[in-house]
Amino acid sequence: MQSFRSLDDADVKGKRVLVRVDLNVPMADGKVADATRIVEIAPTISELAGKGGKVILISHLNRPKGRDPKDSLKPVAAEVSRIVKKPVAFAADCIGPQAEAAVAAMRNGDILCLENTRFHAEEENNDKGFAKKLAALGDLFVDDAFSAAHREHASNTSIVTVSNLPAYPGRAMKAELDALQRAFETPRHPVTAIVGGAKISTKLDLLGHLLAKVETLVIGGAMANTFLVAQGKAVGKSLCESELVGTARDIMAKAKALHRDIVLPIDAVVAPKLADHVPSRVVAVDEVGATDMILDIGPRTIERVISVLARSKTLVWNGPFGAFEHEPFDNGTIEVAEAAAELTAAGKLVSFAGGGDTVAALNLASVTDRLTHVSTGGGAFLESLEGKTLPGVKVLIVSQSPPNGDN
Ligand code: 3PG
Ligand code: MG
Repeated sequence: MQSFRSLDDADVKGKRVLVRVDLNVPMADGKVADATRIVEIAPTISELAGKGGKVILISHLNRPKGRDPKDSLKPVAAEVSRIVKKPVAFAADCIGPQAEAAVAAMRNGDILCLENTRFHAEEENNDKGFAKKLAALGDLFVDDAFSAAHREHASNTSIVTVSNLPAYPGRAMKAELDALQRAFETPRHPVTAIVGGAKISTKLDLLGHLLAKVETLVIGGAMANTFLVAQGKAVGKSLCESELVGTARDIMAKAKALHRDIVLPIDAVVAPKLADHVPSRVVAVDEVGATDMILDIGPRTIERVISVLARSKTLVWNGPFGAFEHEPFDNGTIEVAEAAAELTAAGKLVSFAGGGDTVAALNLASVTDRLTHVSTGGGAFLESLEGKTLPGVKVLIVSQSPPNGDN
């Protein structure tokens, strides 16, 4: 089992602690539009500062090509300050004289945020020289940026491999890693996975990996249409990857060989086009008309999925059931999310969910607080579900548990 250093054992007092965070947050009019990621990392920041560490935040924001004022982390640093309720200083560069001077001026318990690492092309090129300059600013490295851990960039991988900095997962990172372990290494069976979203082509690795790990695989979203076609059904004008019908058949054959259940929609909400409140109707999946688009699962499918959840002990969920951005096609996702939240609250289900769209859909259903764990990661969560060890996690793994056995 992977083991990590524990922040419990880190002696940070008076030390310069480089904390890789994911401050890549949605911005609107120069202000933070959604602070979820900041709220998640606040405990790590507060803890390290509270223990007398000099907390140096490093992060990227967006995908700037070179230095671009609109992608400055300065307004984000102000939001961090508001959330941790402490001053957060800002340095206009993440390496070089400005960063060095700002770090040198820190007192124990201070918090400093460095400017966007992606203002230097060396960050995404994973340049070792750049990583050494970043590493030279600190005595310890803490990574609390799970949602960026699928990137192999200087500030989350080489910073460790080119330096002697002891590297620790932060509290939010550790919670993500623990949740993945509970879902895949030590889950309570039966395990059900829900995979939705638009395309099988982006989720092939995921479906393959999940089939080996779960008893039941529920397929929703537009990708279910390709499976329906593989079963010989007509899907009208619905999204469908015709070239992947053979692949869908292979996945169903593999499930059969492994004695796994695949649950597909049995009824659907259809409409002539995708728009808010467009007239829609419910049909059985073998009655979809030539001009119909499948935009959500129907009530019988919802009931069936909920009954699967009621028999499950662990749920892993990635991808919405329908076109949830448009009412009423959010209904299937919301009803299933409600059921998952109730079973979780009753102690009958351990529920994990993640992925950009999935979290947006679960927020809409107001269930995020009632599931066992909702990941902040989009791509990082998905790649973890595919069974990959993320590059940003790999560098944190120590070969053996620390002396107190806490991993
Ligand atoms: C994210 O938001 O997914 C992470 O911060 C990684 O950002 P990126 O997709 O621009 O690499
Ligand atoms: Mg992204």
